[in-house]
Amino acid sequence: MTEATVPGASQKYTRQTVTAKIVWPAEKLFSVRVTRDPAFVFIPGQFARLGLAVHGPDAETPDEWRAYSMVSHPTQDELEFFSVVVPEGTFSPALARLVPGDPVWIDKTSFGFLTLERFEDGQDLWLIATGTGLSAYMSMLRDPAIWSRFRRIILVHGVRHTSELAYGPELIDLIGQHAPGQLIYLPITSQEPSDPQSSPSIGPMRAPARITNLLATGELEQRAGLALDPLTSRVMLCGNPAMVTEMRALLGARGFVPGRRGVAGNLAVENYW
Ligand SMILES: Cc1cc2nc3c(=O)[nH]c(=O)nc-3n(C[C@H](O)[C@H](O)[C@H](O)COP(=O)(O)OP(=O)(O)OC[C@H]3O[C@@H](n4cnc5c(N)ncnc54)[C@H](O)[C@@H]3O)c2cc1C
Ligand SMILES: NC(=O)c1ccc[n+]([C@@H]2O[C@H](COP(=O)([O-])OP(=O)(O)OC[C@H]3O[C@@H](n4cnc5c(N)ncnc54)[C@H](OP(=O)(O)O)[C@@H]3O)[C@@H](O)[C@H]2O)c1
Repeated sequence: MTEATVPGASQKYTRQTVTAKIVWPAEKLFSVRVTRDPAFVFIPGQFARLGLAVHGPDAETPDEWRAYSMVSHPTQDELEFFSVVVPEGTFSPALARLVPGDPVWIDKTSFGFLTLERFEDGQDLWLIATGTGLSAYMSMLRDPAIWSRFRRIILVHGVRHTSELAYGPELIDLIGQHAPGQLIYLPITSQEPSDPQSSPSIGPMRAPARITNLLATGELEQRAGLALDPLTSRVMLCGNPAMVTEMRALLGARGFVPGRRGVAGNLAVENYW
């Protein structure tokens, strides 16, 4: 059968099926796994456009589309996505209601530039996220290549509460799998103290804070035990657009700039809304 004669081949998207769902301890957070079209290719850090039949009446015609970063690595057979439920949102409550066997439509193209290809090799890679912005970094951290490319990786995850530290156990496992100090996992909680049990990198109990304030006061570097150096550090920002804007300004003043056509930078960013 040629591509043209395969039913649906001319469409921009494929119909996939939910295989598993995880609800995280903070019930507003969940992950879904779905089947993957073998022709769907992506680089860690990229996102897919997911479609759902939200409004009907035709349950087989997707009518709402949203961007979701891949959590899964390109070598994994299935795709995994990590989502928050925005109670007043159109898409995320519908995604949260899905159960194994339900359909999800996925645009055949993968999108986005928050990828490590943007950077020349450096010593330290700072992956900084709020909330579900962590998704894009999980795919990168599941890539064996990242560990030989950077001497140290500092993952900073800002959330409101400790219960929102999704993927924490996988990250702590990764710390154990690599050279001591190669992965520094710094959860930052803004509405309650940061619990030292969430990560071996936290140190003592820490007062509630935002990532932006910690960067401005120098405490972020202190907690990591490393300085942000525009010559040797590479920084990614992902998640809440206000956080991204404020961090860009703070980092810009310290010599961090996004790449331009043909010139690699030391900063890459992605806003989630
Ligand atoms: C490039 C890109 C990648 C994205 N990847 C993810 C992802 O991996 N996981 C994910 O949950 N979302 C992701 N999003 C956001 C996602 O596309 C939807 O906006 C989100 O699921 C909410 O959809 P909604 O229709 O329920 O609400 P919308 O009408 O789309 O959003 C309503 C409001 O909800 C808030 N909001 C939206 N998304 C988030 C979020 N992720 N965290 C906190 N508050 C939010 C904002 O205040 C927004 O104005 C991504 C967005 C972009 C642009
Ligand atoms: N389904 C539910 O039961 C439920 C319940 C609650 C919320 N929600 C939804 O969840 C969404 C919020 O998700 P979220 O908490 O993951 O995302 P978020 O609002 O972006 O907050 C994530 C982290 O980013 C911090 N932050 C926000 N603005 C910042 C800035 N300018 N600079 C630095 N840090 C900043 C927050 O700190 P602060 O705490 O200081 O803001 C928090 O620590 C809302 O849209 C809401 O609709 C759902």
